[in-house]
Amino acid sequence: MPDIRSGVETRIRVATDGDLPQLVAIYNYFVNSSHVTFDTSAFTVEQRRPWLQSFAATGRYRLFVAEVAGVAAGYASSQRLRPKPAYDCSVETTVYVAPEYARRGIGAMLYDALLASLEGVGVHQAFAGIALPNDASVALHEAVGFRHVGTFPEAGFKFDRYWDIAWYVRRLADDRDRGCP
Ligand SMILES: CC(C)(COP(=O)(O)OP(=O)(O)OC[C@H]1O[C@@H](n2cnc3c(N)ncnc32)[C@H](O)[C@@H]1OP(=O)(O)O)[C@@H](O)C(=O)NCCC(=O)NCCS
Repeated sequence: MPDIRSGVETRIRVATDGDLPQLVAIYNYFVNSSHVTFDTSAFTVEQRRPWLQSFAATGRYRLFVAEVAGVAAGYASSQRLRPKPAYDCSVETTVYVAPEYARRGIGAMLYDALLASLEGVGVHQAFAGIALPNDASVALHEAVGFRHVGTFPEAGFKFDRYWDIAWYVRRLADDRDRGCP
């Protein structure tokens, strides 16, 4: 997919094992520098491998990568919302773009691919938790069809202070044949 803002080709594809070091580097940048994730310690590549292996090329739990000139510039994922079985038809989605690739349309491309892949695979609603403030994430989620449904006040403690987390939801296609009315 061409990225018209940068002039460089951006390819959105399913993640592979070989992406792991770059995806860990992107995530660790935000773990170390920002409240946008509530992880507080950086991961080694091996510590993060089970996370990568929790995704599949089909079904509800997906991981897409944006590749720019052979480099992973960002990723978007869908994971189980909570462990209990009645949550089967819900996923939690998230997206991370390396700062040097921000504001080129990559987050939107990743989310478009992820949400399209979740149609008809047994997902009723996608949820996203955004630690506030995060103007970029709020704007991106609203741009791809999420709506705000509530905020957990002071739900996370990082960098010596509490942070609110705003929850957003996006409806996916009806999926009655997969037990998700
Ligand atoms: C949020 C994030 C994924 C956005 O990725 P991105 O590739 O920069 O976003 P895009 O270029 O696709 O922008 C899509 C839309 O989001 C909004 N947006 C993106 N960055 C923004 C910013 N800094 N301020 C306000 N709006 C912003 C705009 O509406 C934009 O559309 P436009 O450029 O046509 O106006 C990226 O900033 C990021 O990785 N942030 C840190 C990690 C994070 O917060 N992830 C979400 C966790 S909930």
